[in-house]
Amino acid sequence: MTGLLDLAAGIAREAGEMLLAKRPARPEAVSTKSSATDVVTALDRASEDLIRARIRAARPGDAVLGEERGESAGEGRVRWVVDPIDGTVNFMYGLPDWCVSIAVEVDGEIVAGVVNVVPRGELYAAEKGGGAELLREGLPAERLRCNTGVPLARALIATGFGYLPGRRAVQGEVLAHVLPRVRDIRRGGSCAADLCAVASGRVDGYYERGPEYWDYAAGGLIAAEAGARIGGLDGRPSNPGLTLCAAPGLFEELHDLLAPLDPERDS
Ligand code: IPD
Ligand code: CA
Ligand code: CA
Ligand code: CA
Repeated sequence: MTGLLDLAAGIAREAGEMLLAKRPARPEAVSTKSSATDVVTALDRASEDLIRARIRAARPGDAVLGEERGESAGEGRVRWVVDPIDGTVNFMYGLPDWCVSIAVEVDGEIVAGVVNVVPRGELYAAEKGGGAELLREGLPAERLRCNTGVPLARALIATGFGYLPGRRAVQGEVLAHVLPRVRDIRRGGSCAADLCAVASGRVDGYYERGPEYWDYAAGGLIAAEAGARIGGLDGRPSNPGLTLCAAPGLFEELHDLLAPLDPERDS
């Protein structure tokens, strides 16, 4: 690991340690955002504040986009994209799929991404063009490759249900259409961890209606560097409308299954 990736990994580790140390038995939501299900805890904000402080100390001219504190302008070519806790609901309930997700853009292109799935002790990391790795304390780094050659009917598909208001009913309709046509569905509760699960082969593919850029920025690079394709409908890049990820072949099958159902396809 070098440069920006190394820095991102160190910051994601430190934020993860802080979260583990400070997590109360039952973290409470301090407020809600777009809908009643879109919750924020005090530690979402504390994690983003720590991450921003470390970025500022190391690289004061860089821009930062974070879920909880918004966009801070920079003066150079680098922007950090931060989800200080991805999987806040899991974090509140003590479920193990929550993570710190940090991506780094240079001139608008994501060049490095780390996803620290703290309760599992798993740090996923990728550099553009350099492949993706899983790093675990005391174990050799593991090169990641997504599953290939899996047809839709035998695919285990992760999904999520973005919290934006008005989407729940459509998410349910899409799920009812997908479920009978795949091996099974997993709703892990963290978009970034879902994309790392595609990268490591723990699931075959992923789709979600409503993830935000900070949800998939780092995990998307990790999945892509592990051989997966990530994108939206009709050749568009990943976007909050609908984001899909799977090995080539399964990606297209999943795309063709989901595309006719998408109410935003023509908008
Ligand atoms: C959420 C998680 C969830 C996904 C939502 C995200 P948050 O992020 O990634 O899995 O379904 O779309 O908003 O709010 O826990 O950071
Ligand atoms: Ca959130
Ligand atoms: Ca998130
Ligand atoms: Ca978050």
